[in-house]
Amino acid sequence: MDMNLTLKIWRQKNASDKGSMVDYKVSDISPDMSFLEMLDVLNEQLINNDEEPVAFDHDCREGICGMCSLYINGEAHGPDRGVTTCQLHMRMFKDGDTITIEPFRATAFPVVKDLIVDRSSFDRIQHAGGFISVNTSGNTIDANATPINKEDADDAFSAATCIGCGACVASCKNSSAMLFVGAKVSQFALLPQGKIEATDRVLNMVKQMDDEGFGNCTNTGACEVECPKGISLENIARMNREYLAASLKG
Ligand code: SF4
Ligand code: FES
Repeated sequence: MDMNLTLKIWRQKNASDKGSMVDYKVSDISPDMSFLEMLDVLNEQLINNDEEPVAFDHDCREGICGMCSLYINGEAHGPDRGVTTCQLHMRMFKDGDTITIEPFRATAFPVVKDLIVDRSSFDRIQHAGGFISVNTSGNTIDANATPINKEDADDAFSAATCIGCGACVASCKNSSAMLFVGAKVSQFALLPQGKIEATDRVLNMVKQMDDEGFGNCTNTGACEVECPKGISLENIARMNREYLAASLKG
């Protein structure tokens, strides 16, 4: 059955505007629509009324890019599990519902406009060490020629599924980025190609994370629950072990 909904949406003109929640009504919303398609309907309505559409981030709309980043009814990516906002379906809501929609909130993710936040702090953490250096002069070894323990390969692949959406930060009462950084450190720490720069990588990425203003992990586990890719807390434990080993070496 199609739904009529009330939306309470955070509107903020720019980074310095104070911002406030504004109420909107949308009608005839199909349960088969995605959450972003529902927002498209609202924006069409606003444009037709000569009002400013709601700004929100999106790109792939397939759960891959990590761009969509809404805090829906008090949960990052809304009430479903293992999905991003673009994969959230309106069948998770019912006719007559009021839905609260806010941007991800964290000091290190300042609001740019309405529901869009600046997550370039994640990019700077990646630049600090989220890479391996490979000689490409013609004598590179084929990656498949390096045997890797199956369990390590599987764990590295799982860590690499992190899409950098920032839901872990938004869900954490301390705005900790340790699930994200733990995943990015782990995907290399488990593989021989990543071991060469492992010491500098973990020290530099954790330093950048702290410099950006992310908080500390106090093991609430909220990040793991809300992560659309099921990134395990085990990655934080691995990062802590890597960090301790690197500090002792350094
Ligand atoms: S760990 Fe999960 S919630 Fe955090 S950025 Fe990666 S995919 Fe998003
Ligand atoms: S728009 Fe790409 S993950 Fe949602």
